[in-house]
Amino acid sequence: MKASIAVLPGDGIGPDVVAESIKVLHAVSDRFGHEFSLKTAEIGGGSIDKYGDPLPQKTVETCNDSDAILFGAVGGPKWDDPTNNVRPEDGILAIRKSLGLFANLRPVKVYPSLINSSPLKPEFLEGVDMLVLRELTGGLYFGKPKKRWNTSRGRRGVDTLKYTEREIERILRVGFELAMGRRKKLASVDKQNVLESSRLWREIAVEVSHEYPEVELEHILVDNAAMQLIRNPANFDVIVSENTFGDILTDEASVLAGSMGMLPSASLSTLPGSNRTKKVSLYEPIHGTAPDIAGKGIANPIGSILSTAMMLRLSFGMADEADSIESAVESVLSEGYRTADISADGGDVVGTTQMGDVIAGQI
Ligand code: IPM
Ligand code: MG
Repeated sequence: MKASIAVLPGDGIGPDVVAESIKVLHAVSDRFGHEFSLKTAEIGGGSIDKYGDPLPQKTVETCNDSDAILFGAVGGPKWDDPTNNVRPEDGILAIRKSLGLFANLRPVKVYPSLINSSPLKPEFLEGVDMLVLRELTGGLYFGKPKKRWNTSRGRRGVDTLKYTEREIERILRVGFELAMGRRKKLASVDKQNVLESSRLWREIAVEVSHEYPEVELEHILVDNAAMQLIRNPANFDVIVSENTFGDILTDEASVLAGSMGMLPSASLSTLPGSNRTKKVSLYEPIHGTAPDIAGKGIANPIGSILSTAMMLRLSFGMADEADSIESAVESVLSEGYRTADISADGGDVVGTTQMGDVIAGQI
């Protein structure tokens, strides 16, 4: 099969980890006889430096002309001045919004061989296998008004948490469908004791749940969810939440997996498996640019490599190919290969490219 992939490495460790995903893609095309045509495009801080624009039109075109997008990370201290009016992060936010990628799937799995890489006690980590579904094109990230201004009584800033009924319903529906394909448990995260948008969210969750009588729906306040994620993580199956809540909870959940560097994600504009998945989807690790280790060759490429596996499975229907990547990751971890971030249990500490090599070598 032929497929075209837009490759957007971005800033910091983005290019380091994406290079390893490409290595793995080559291994997959060699073994399974596919032809992936890769087109690299610019995004983020580097692109601001060159063109004054974190998402140049050319990048948008490359994305639109592709079957899927492989994204690294954007941002960094160089572009962090809060008075700047253009930011690297605007690039990825604009792609998510313009392609309608409202459903962000963030699976959180604990590899048995990494149980001792997490700072949490092993007994809390056994059986952890959850999927966090983060709403990605609405909520606090995108609501208007969103601005800063000066008044006679000082500076002001506002962000708005706004959702339409349609936006809430479609993400919840994806949550219920995903739960149907798993352990049939859905935890809907909100803050309904304080937020009006959350009260609407909860009301709609109850309405949609009538169509999914087999799914056990639980409502959980976001602050409580943050605690339960550490106290009883194996209890979660699918978690569905507002954009910002999902952003925060998945960084927290990554501690279960041993490191931020482990978690992949898929951003879709439609239910996975539905015939509209011909639409372009985006795949990225949940981590950021890690400026402190950028260019040092020590970043963990597994989150990006597992995102590539999600791309093969969800965008191209290549289940065996995706399995081969996931098994390769599992086996190198059980053989003791570790990047620095997951090396608390000792193991054989390798750099980014070596980790990519050993994974690609097992495909
Ligand atoms: C993520 C990141 C992004 C987000 C940033 C880089 C804009 O933290 O993908 O989780 O907040 O969505
Ligand atoms: Mg984040």
